[in-house]
Amino acid sequence: MPMRIVFIGPPGAGKGTQSVRLVKYLDVPHLSTGDMLRDAISEGTTLGKLVKSYMDHGSLVPDPLVVGIVGERLEHRDCRKGCMLDGFPRTIGQAQALDQYLLDRGEKIDVVLELQVPEEILHDRLLERAKKMVEPRSDDRPEAIPRRLSLFRSQTEPLISYYSKRDICRHVDGVGTPDEVFARIRECVDSMRPGGKV
Ligand code: AP5
Ligand code: MG
Repeated sequence: MPMRIVFIGPPGAGKGTQSVRLVKYLDVPHLSTGDMLRDAISEGTTLGKLVKSYMDHGSLVPDPLVVGIVGERLEHRDCRKGCMLDGFPRTIGQAQALDQYLLDRGEKIDVVLELQVPEEILHDRLLERAKKMVEPRSDDRPEAIPRRLSLFRSQTEPLISYYSKRDICRHVDGVGTPDEVFARIRECVDSMRPGGKV
């Protein structure tokens, strides 16, 4: 059975870190809108030119642009076996567009994982990453981080109650080593799979 999973969590919660582990475990493609947009910027595409200033400031890229790239990616053959959506949807508008896209194809989201991490730890993780990287992400600058966190609270957190109505939401404690966090995620996902463990 294909499994479609959505990861929701504030910047620095570990969505990317845990997605890498989970896609290996479930053998599904990893769809990270942040990575897709960063690739577009580094390739200098028209989309990249359009989104650069939004991303540099830690603002959200307009819904139609993001919905467009995800819709295109979901058409690929590898997504028939499911997918791991990391960083999308991020607004109610995006969630509604995704629901409609899946509904039109007789598909649905199976699990929404909310990764919970206190704000002071998020700050530390993002600043730490900026220090370690030779070429830090433009949005890991101290000025952009508060905006990213505040947009998460105002635009993305409401998705938890949007999805809660369907009983597909699971909350996972994102504090601990990446392996400890992954063990919690795996347990959660296994409990939601029709056949249990992989
Ligand atoms: P995106 O790339 O999605 O970034 P983000 O969610 O804001 O933040 P991160 O990717 O930094 O966090 P993460 O949860 O993946 O954590 P990670 O595993 O990296 O989006 C970037 C921008 O693109 C947005 O601001 C927006 O402009 C645009 N965008 C993207 N999607 C969009 C959408 N749908 N709509 C509109 N705009 C969109 O970990 C962070 C750090 O912590 C790493 O250094 C990691 O090593 C460390 N770490 C991870 N786990 C642990 C742990 N357990 N213990 C200690 N350290 C840890
Ligand atoms: Mg990420």
